[in-house]
Amino acid sequence: MNVLVTGGAGFIGSHIVDGLVAAGHRVEVLDDLSSGSRDNLPAGVPLHVADIVDPAAVARVFEAARPDLICHQAAQMSVSRSVREPRFDAEVNCIGLINVLESAARHRCRRVVFASSGGVLYGEVTSPAPETTPANPVSPYGITKWVGERYLQFFAAEHGMATVALRYSNVYGPRQNPHGEAGVVAIFCKKLLAGEPARINGDGRYVRDYVFGPDVARANVLALTADLPGVVPGTLTSLNIGTGTGADVNELEAMIRGAVAAVRSRHGRNAPLPPPENGPARPGDLRSNLVDATRASEVLGWRPTVALAEGLSQTAEWFAAHDRS
Ligand SMILES: NC(=O)c1ccc[n+]([C@@H]2O[C@H](COP(=O)([O-])OP(=O)(O)OC[C@H]3O[C@@H](n4cnc5c(N)ncnc54)[C@H](O)[C@@H]3O)[C@@H](O)[C@H]2O)c1
Repeated sequence: MNVLVTGGAGFIGSHIVDGLVAAGHRVEVLDDLSSGSRDNLPAGVPLHVADIVDPAAVARVFEAARPDLICHQAAQMSVSRSVREPRFDAEVNCIGLINVLESAARHRCRRVVFASSGGVLYGEVTSPAPETTPANPVSPYGITKWVGERYLQFFAAEHGMATVALRYSNVYGPRQNPHGEAGVVAIFCKKLLAGEPARINGDGRYVRDYVFGPDVARANVLALTADLPGVVPGTLTSLNIGTGTGADVNELEAMIRGAVAAVRSRHGRNAPLPPPENGPARPGDLRSNLVDATRASEVLGWRPTVALAEGLSQTAEWFAAHDRS
C-alpha cells in the first residue's frame, strides 16, 4: 500500500513511518519541519517539506505520492500556544486538516487515520474514560481536535472513505521534543541526564495515562492497514489509545530518576541526582485524566505492550545517546 504520513518527521509520526516500512508498505512523508526533523526518518523515505495550511502544496504532494491511505499526524499541538494564538491553532488543525481531507477525497483514498486526543476531549476524569464520555474540550487545541473528528465524519459520509480517530492519552518515548512545555517525560529525562533537578508543578499530584510512542505507532499501523470488519467505509470510528493506568508526576519523576541513574551508572557516572524542585501549580491543570482502550482491543486487536518502567528506561537510553541540547 502507498501511505502518506503527514507530520511523519515528528515524534509519533516517525515511529509510525518505522512501523509501516517494517511491514513492507511504501511510505512518503509530508512535514513542514516546524517541530519535526529529517533525522527522525529512515533512509529512503521521501520527505515533502510542505505546510498543510497551503492547499496547493498539499495537492502537489498528493499528486507526487498518489497515496491509498493517509495518516494525519501534523498539527499545532501546544495547548498553551492554542490559548495565545487560537487563529493559528485553527488554521493548522482545522484548515490544514480540511486541505488533507479534500486531497484524500480527490485521490479516492481508502482510509484516513487522524491523531486525536483523549486528554483534551474528556477533561477531568478519575477512572479510565470510554469513548462514550461526553466531549468537554476547554482549550482551542481541544476544540480543534473535537472539530477535526466532526470533519472526518463529514468527509467519510460524503466521499465514502473509512476514517479512524485515535484518541491518544499522554504519549512519551524516544524522539519526543524536550524543548516544548508539553512532553514531561522528555523534559525530565533531559534535565536529569544533565544532572539538573526536574521541576514539578504544584504538588505534582496530577495523574496521567502514559502510553509508549511505538505502541501508539502500532495502533496507527493497524488502523491504516489491517483488515478490520469494525472499520466501515463512509463512517468514523473513534478509539482511545492508552493504558488505562495512571501515574502522578511525583511517581513519574521517581521512575525517570531511577532510569536515568541506571543509564548514568553504565557510563561510570555515579554522582547522586538532585531532588526535584517544586514550582507553582499551572492554572487549569487537570488533576486526573485516563482513557479506557477496551474498544481499540476489540476493533484493532491492539493492546499496549510496553510497561511504563520499561518505556521510561528505553526513553532515558535514547536521550542519553542523542544529545540534542
Ligand atoms: N504527544 C502526545 O502526547 C499527543 C497526545 C495526543 C495527541 N497528539 C497528537 O499526535 C500528533 C503528533 O504529535 P507529536 O507528539 O508527534 O508532535 P510533533 O510535534 O513531534 O509532531 C508533529 C509534526 O507535525 C509537523 N507539522 C506541524 N505543523 C505542520 C504544518 N502546518 N504542516 C506540515 N507539518 C506540520 C511538525 O513538524 C512535526 O513533525 C499531533 O496531531 C498531536 O496533536 C499527541
